[in-house]
Amino acid sequence: MDLRITCIPGDGIGPEIVAEAKKVLDKVAEVYGHKMNYTDILMGGASIDVHGVPLTDEAIATAKAADAVLMGSIGGNTTTSPWYKLPPNLRPEAGLLKIRKALNLFANLRPAYLYSELAGACPLKEEISAQGFDMLIMRELTGGLYFGDRKTIEENGVLKAIDTLTYDENEIRRIAIKGFDIAMKRRKKVTSVDKANVLDSSRLWRKVVEEVAKDYPEVTLEHMLVDNCAMQLVKDPAQFDVILTENMFGDILSDEASMVTGSIGMLSSASLNDTKFGLYEPSHGSAPDIAGMDIANPIATILSASMMLRYSFDLDKEADAIDAAVKKVLQDGFRTGDIMSEGCTKVGCSQMGSLIAERIA
Ligand code: IPM
Ligand code: MG
Repeated sequence: MDLRITCIPGDGIGPEIVAEAKKVLDKVAEVYGHKMNYTDILMGGASIDVHGVPLTDEAIATAKAADAVLMGSIGGNTTTSPWYKLPPNLRPEAGLLKIRKALNLFANLRPAYLYSELAGACPLKEEISAQGFDMLIMRELTGGLYFGDRKTIEENGVLKAIDTLTYDENEIRRIAIKGFDIAMKRRKKVTSVDKANVLDSSRLWRKVVEEVAKDYPEVTLEHMLVDNCAMQLVKDPAQFDVILTENMFGDILSDEASMVTGSIGMLSSASLNDTKFGLYEPSHGSAPDIAGMDIANPIATILSASMMLRYSFDLDKEADAIDAAVKKVLQDGFRTGDIMSEGCTKVGCSQMGSLIAERIA
């Protein structure tokens, strides 16, 4: 199969981790007889430095022309980088929001599970981590506070900032359907997370989710308030299968969920529209403090490449091969610094990529 993939190396550790994901994909191509065709585009700070904007229309067109997009990370140090002296709509993150919107990537899947090999890195009490957990956060990605009108005005000499949180029923319905669909392939439980005791948008969310649930009689639906969910994630993460939630809550809860797995360096993500097209990126950021040092953990990006093969190309066998190679490398005791524990062998970013590629069978 010929795979057309647009790559966004981005900023910080982005280029290093994308290089390792390509290394693994190339090995998959060799073993399974596929052809990877990569085209790189600039986004974030890398694009600002060259074009003065975080994402050009040409770059969007290139991304659209591919079957899938594989991304590293974007952004720099928000207190020291000159990118953050620019107006907000020209900063690196604006490029990411623009591509999500332009490609209509409304469904963001962020799996979080505890590898038994990394249980020692889990910050939770042993009696909790011993239960293990395997959840998927289905985050709405193109609505809510992120895309509502915002402005800062001065009223009677007082500065006032306004952000608006809106959802219409169609936006809620399409993400809820994605959530229930994926629950059917998992343990058939959806926890819909909202703040319905305060917000109108959450009350509508709850109503629409309940309507959608009627089409999925096999799936158990429960509602949970977001503050309680934040607590339950550290108290009893094993209770969750699919967490279905809006953009901002999903942003926050997915960082929390990733941390309880032991390292944010392990978590992949997929951002999908209504077709097979998707953008795949690690859940973590660009870690500018360790950029270029060959110590970043490339596993989240490599697992994102696996999600890409699964969701955009229906190459389940190949995706399984990547997931198995990652598990094997952990079993064999290799660790990057962020997941290092006693008795293991510490390796750098590039070596980790090579060790995983070698294990593709
Ligand atoms: C994420 C990131 C982004 C978000 C930032 C970089 C805009 O935190 O993908 O979770 O908030 O969506
Ligand atoms: Mg985030």
